[in-house]
Amino acid sequence: RKAFRPVINNSIPTEVNISFTLSAILKVDAQLQLMTSFLWLNVIWYNPFIRWNPEECGGIGKLSMTTENLWIPDIYIQEFMDVDQTPTSLMAYVNSEGRISYDKPMQVVSICNLDIFYFPFDQQNCTLTFGSFIYTVEDMVLGMEKEAQEISNTSLSLIRSKGEWVLLSIHQSEQQMTMGTSQYDQIIFYVAIRRRPSLYVINLLLPSGFLVAIDALSFYLPAESGNRAPFKMTLLLGYNVFLLMMNDLLPVNGTPLISVFFALCLSLMVVSLLETVFITYLLHLATTEPPPMPLWLYSLLLHYTSPRKCCPTAPQKGNKGLDLTPSHLPGDLSGPWMTLCPATDLKEPEVLARKMPSPGETELNGCPESARAPQEAEAQKKHLVDLWVQFSHMMDSLLFGLYLLFMASSIITVIILWNTWHVF
Ligand SMILES: *[C@@H]1O[C@H](CO)[C@@H](O)[C@H](O)[C@H]1NC(C)=O
Ligand SMILES: *[C@@H]1O[C@H](CO)[C@@H](O)[C@H](O)[C@H]1NC(C)=O
Ligand SMILES: *[C@@H]1O[C@H](CO)[C@@H](O)[C@H](O)[C@H]1NC(C)=O
Repeated sequence: RKAFRPVINNSIPTEVNISFTLSAILKVDAQLQLMTSFLWLNVIWYNPFIRWNPEECGGIGKLSMTTENLWIPDIYIQEFMDVDQTPTSLMAYVNSEGRISYDKPMQVVSICNLDIFYFPFDQQNCTLTFGSFIYTVEDMVLGMEKEAQEISNTSLSLIRSKGEWVLLSIHQSEQQMTMGTSQYDQIIFYVAIRRRPSLYVINLLLPSGFLVAIDALSFYLPAESGNRAPFKMTLLLGYNVFLLMMNDLLPVNGTPLISVFFALCLSLMVVSLLETVFITYLLHLATTEPPPMPLWLYSLLLHYTSPRKCCPTAPQKGNKGLDLTPSHLPGDLSGPWMTLCPATDLKEPEVLARKMPSPGETELNGCPESARAPQEAEAQKKHLVDLWVQFSHMMDSLLFGLYLLFMASSIITVIILWNTWHVF
């Protein structure tokens, strides 16, 4: 009478012990929030109506029987989201005490609350809740056949898949679910899995990092050459194509940290392109029609570049030329400002000093050769151009520094966020 729960006294619940072995994690679908795994479910219970004396039956201690002849507890997994494709006519072992052990293989497509924020360094905690459809606690109580630790260890040693996901551990807790007036016994297993990030690190993070590094290094291309902007534009284009191609690898729902990282890389590139445009504009302005330089800017320039400056220019600073002591070696004068004056100044500080006292000659320019009257306007303009060029280079260095600072801080922030998850 397999239609009825086999029990002698109907007010005594059937005790059903379950355990399982997880043998593969086949797929985790972040969009549908599904985990597909493969497991062997083992269900054990007593049937008090099956009993024999092994001595009378030729020492047979246990028999296999088809499940069609037995009452089977209806254990199901609550998170199950697919039709059960388990073959129906399976066998079960029955021993002489009436203890029935029933194994069935299951491909479990279970719903799992996936948090992809830390993708691709994420860990997921999927639950498998075993319970009965119809039997309440008065009729069926669930127990554990093995400790969760044992289940975890056998699964870890048996697991076949070397795919994207690694099984970390399996934990268990027991709970009763209340629905209306009836209570159902449940056993909840927490399956902790971790993604192997190497695929994503190699395909997503490294190329991004390289492109941003090249973008940062391209600041060393001279701004005057006009190569910098096209170079950066090509990089930006390449990065866009890269993002388009790699879009398939990203989870589609939610905003993982990696998307923020990509957006950050892209904006760094855009910002650096804008900076290049700005500097190019500034240089163009400086070389074609330099506007008069505001005094504050001028003093700022003087202040920041005075140790490298070769031409004392303002009348009140005329004695600057005297500062050119022999300690000012040519090596000290590297950088774009070196072109400010003909090299004669550097070599003949005493000439400069001798000419200083005559105000007519050095009122606006300390360069002795350009002090002659016909060339004065020309020289003045050239000087202004030089100042603006100097200013552009200063701005370039400053913005490059800010760019590096922003890049370093944001990337470190992202990495720290990723690492906090790992510590956990
Ligand atoms: C069934 O079990 C309950 C509780 O253990 C007990 O009170 C009752 O007498 C039993 N009934 C029979 C018929 O044995
Ligand atoms: C279920 O397991 C418990 C201990 O874990 C044990 O006492 C009980 O006999 C088991 N029941 C069956 C039906 O195997
Ligand atoms: C999984 O989640 C459950 C409850 O949400 C928690 O008790 C358990 O510790 C988590 N396990 C892991 C490995 O994070």
